[in-house]
Amino acid sequence: MDISAENVKKLINKDIDIIVFDEVTSTNDVAKILAEKDASEGTVVIAKKQTSGRGRKGHTFFSPKDTGLYMSIILRPAIAPEDSLLITTSAAVSVAEATEKVSGVSTFIKWVNDVYADGKKIAGILSEAMLSEDMTKTEYVILGIGVNVNEPDGGFPDDIRNIAGALRKNKEDIRDVLAASIINTFFSYYEKLPEKTFFDEYRQRLFILGKKIDVIKPDSVTEAVALDIDSDFGLIVQYPDGRKETLTSGEVSAKPKE
Ligand code: BTN
Repeated sequence: MDISAENVKKLINKDIDIIVFDEVTSTNDVAKILAEKDASEGTVVIAKKQTSGRGRKGHTFFSPKDTGLYMSIILRPAIAPEDSLLITTSAAVSVAEATEKVSGVSTFIKWVNDVYADGKKIAGILSEAMLSEDMTKTEYVILGIGVNVNEPDGGFPDDIRNIAGALRKNKEDIRDVLAASIINTFFSYYEKLPEKTFFDEYRQRLFILGKKIDVIKPDSVTEAVALDIDSDFGLIVQYPDGRKETLTSGEVSAKPKE
């Protein structure tokens, strides 16, 4: 079964616009154009293929035809720019819960917002915000979600083969059910975002807590143990000399030690 706006719309419990394209550069780019033209909150852009799928930190996101879910949601949240992490973390929980529910495979979150199954990254999130001129208000946020649903023909490219994995090993197309499940779960959290109702679920799915990690900063890599997260999703780590630090996303990443 091919993904279609009609199928997804039937499965969601919110009255929002769903637009499905055969091919785009990036659904985040298309969503941004629509957001600038006053598209309503919640509008979802889905593509069957992306020719320039983007990830965080300037990475590309491999987006071959029909094997992944490539989706961007236009949000107009009433939150301060500094609270935008609530959107990506709630999205990570939603993707983890929905992928698990639809596939039956257990999923985990790699701090801050990558989703893993069977030790491989199966989904990533790229959220891009447009702020007001004085930088104090969020005009809109494009929440981009990419899920590797099925194994691409020929497998993943060499440079990501060891990291990327597919949610499903068979060819069954579950993209419409998965898209709807992510949308329904995400909006249930988004509607009361400041309450952080997804916090416990997020914390439980973090697979690095209590484990040795590498703390990667622009100019150093240091071994530490991931202890916990604080209420703002900062990662509390402890270094071998006993010193503790709370890491905020953006500046650092935490890689589980092999
Ligand atoms: C990452 O893993 O660093 C984030 C990947 C985000 C990929 C999704 S796919 C839909 C949307 N369009 C893009 O170009 N990127 C996001």
